[in-house]
Order: sequence, then structure tokens, then C-alpha cells
Amino acid sequence: MDTHSTKPPLSGRKRGEPSLPAGIVITDMHADHLDSLADLESMAFSTPWSYDALAEELQNPLAVFLVAEDVDAESAVDYLGMHHILDEGFITNIVVHPAYRRQGLARALIREAMNYAEAHDMSRITLEVRPSNEPAVSLYESMGFKQDGIRPGFYDSPKEDAAIYSFYF
Ligand SMILES: CC(C)(COP(=O)(O)OP(=O)(O)OC[C@H]1O[C@@H](n2cnc3c(N)ncnc32)[C@H](O)[C@@H]1OP(=O)(O)O)[C@@H](O)C(=O)NCCC(=O)NCCS
Repeated sequence: MDTHSTKPPLSGRKRGEPSLPAGIVITDMHADHLDSLADLESMAFSTPWSYDALAEELQNPLAVFLVAEDVDAESAVDYLGMHHILDEGFITNIVVHPAYRRQGLARALIREAMNYAEAHDMSRITLEVRPSNEPAVSLYESMGFKQDGIRPGFYDSPKEDAAIYSFYF
């Protein structure tokens, strides 16, 4: 499989992109984040990724996992996981701590993933979402993702189809 061979540098904000809220920085995921990220997963999902599953991504050469940290609180408050396979990115997870929502953090991390994708000549970023997850669907549509498929009965607890959304470069 032709995968990217080195970990990417974070591309940083492009000119004209909104700045992050004060005290928030975006960095690559590292081992010190794992406890906070496992907590975020448990808060957000009925079938959360475990600490061990997240830790495995630290060894995964396909993984592009980005974390937003609150510098003062010394804690991870938002993260996005993506797998870079050939010329496509698959967003596996995105979660924002409930106390930090509606401040543009999810949008900032998706933009960072898009910057990475452009820098690595990807043709598209794709993801799955519950159609009932209105905040997430609204987030993706507001960023130019278009629905291009359905996976019937993809999710459990509760059972639901997955809507497939993609952003094409
Ligand atoms: C979905 C989620 C990641 C959004 O994070 P966020 O940081 O609050 O989102 P942002 O502040 O960047 O919002 C960007 C846009 O998303 C949409 N959006 C976000 N939250 C919304 C909500 N509660 N209702 C409607 N639209 C919403 C809006 O279009 C918003 O733009 P606006 O604030 O200019 O109106 C967050 O609610 C979350 O972590 N949910 C639980 C985990 C989850 O469902 N992840 C997605 C799995 S597919």
C-alpha cells in the first residue's frame, strides 16, 4: 500500500482563516492526551473508542490525529482523527468537550485536516455520521461536505444508518 511515509507537520492557519479562541492551540496527538481523549469519547458516544484504541493510533502510520489543547487547563478539549490512505482521508472521530462547543473548535480542526489534505494532494476527505446528529451534519454541510451515500444499519446503540459525506478537492 502506498501510504505517506512521514508524519505531517501541522500546516498552521492560512491567511484569512479565523483565529482560535484565546488559550487554545492545535497539536499532534501524543501519549499525554490519551486520558483526556478517552474521557471525551465516553462523554460523546454510546460506543466510545477506548484508551487502548486511541493509543494504537500513536503507532499507526496512517493516522493523522489532531488535538486542540486548552493551555491553561492543560487538557485536551477537542480532537479529530483521520486515516490517510492513498489519496483519501477518512475522518474516524471528531469530538469537542461540551464546555467548549459553539466556539469554532470543530471547524478549526476540520480546516486543519483540510490543509493537511491539500498539502498531501488528497482528492477527498470522507466520513460517516448519524443523520440524526444535527450539530455534526450541520457542521459538515457548512464546510462544503456533500452527502454521497448511505450505509444501512451501520450504527448500533441505537441502530441507525450512516450517512456518508465527502469533501472533494
Ligand atoms: C458536532 C461537534 C463536533 C461540533 O463541535 P463545535 O466545536 O461545537 O462546532 P463549531 O463551533 O466548530 O461549529 C461549526 C458549525 O457547526 C454547526 N453546529 C455546531 N453545533 C451545532 C448545534 N448544536 N446545532 C446546530 N448546528 C451546529 C454550525 O453550523 C456551526 O457554525 P455556527 O456556529 O457558525 O452556526 C460537537 O457538537 C460534538 O463534539 N458532538 C459530539 C460528538 C459528535 O457527534 N461528533 C461527530 C461524530 S460524526
